[in-house]
Amino acid sequence: MNLSHISIVVPDLAAAVKIMREVYGLTCGPVGENRQQGVRLTYVDLGNSKIELMQPLRPDSQVGRFLAKHPGGGLHHFCLGVADVAPVTAALHEKGVRVLGDGKPAYNIHGQQIAFIHPQDFLGSLVELEQQAAAPPAGH
Ligand code: CO
Repeated sequence: MNLSHISIVVPDLAAAVKIMREVYGLTCGPVGENRQQGVRLTYVDLGNSKIELMQPLRPDSQVGRFLAKHPGGGLHHFCLGVADVAPVTAALHEKGVRVLGDGKPAYNIHGQQIAFIHPQDFLGSLVELEQQAAAPPAGH
């Protein structure tokens, strides 16, 4: 496992991007939408990791409910990269770890499979698991 990203919920994505760029000199990627997760988001490039900035698309999404409780935004989850999500979540499930969601596979905006672990089963922190992108073929 490796650290893919740390995720922050923000009330205003454009304002957050401006702060990252102008105050911290960080580079933000294009803004995308993940309708399944109910968020608009972008990634701040940190070289070996990323910060994910998420603004809810609708108040009844998980992230929308988080923002209602924390109107200024805040740390939401961190994400661990794994080679393959399904066998990892199956093995964790066997150990009694709760994987969130409706049992259907979920995906990020890059089409990588993701899953979330119940915070009570990871030391009080919400953890996302993300399928690592397949390495490009050798020689290309
Ligand atoms: Co994430």
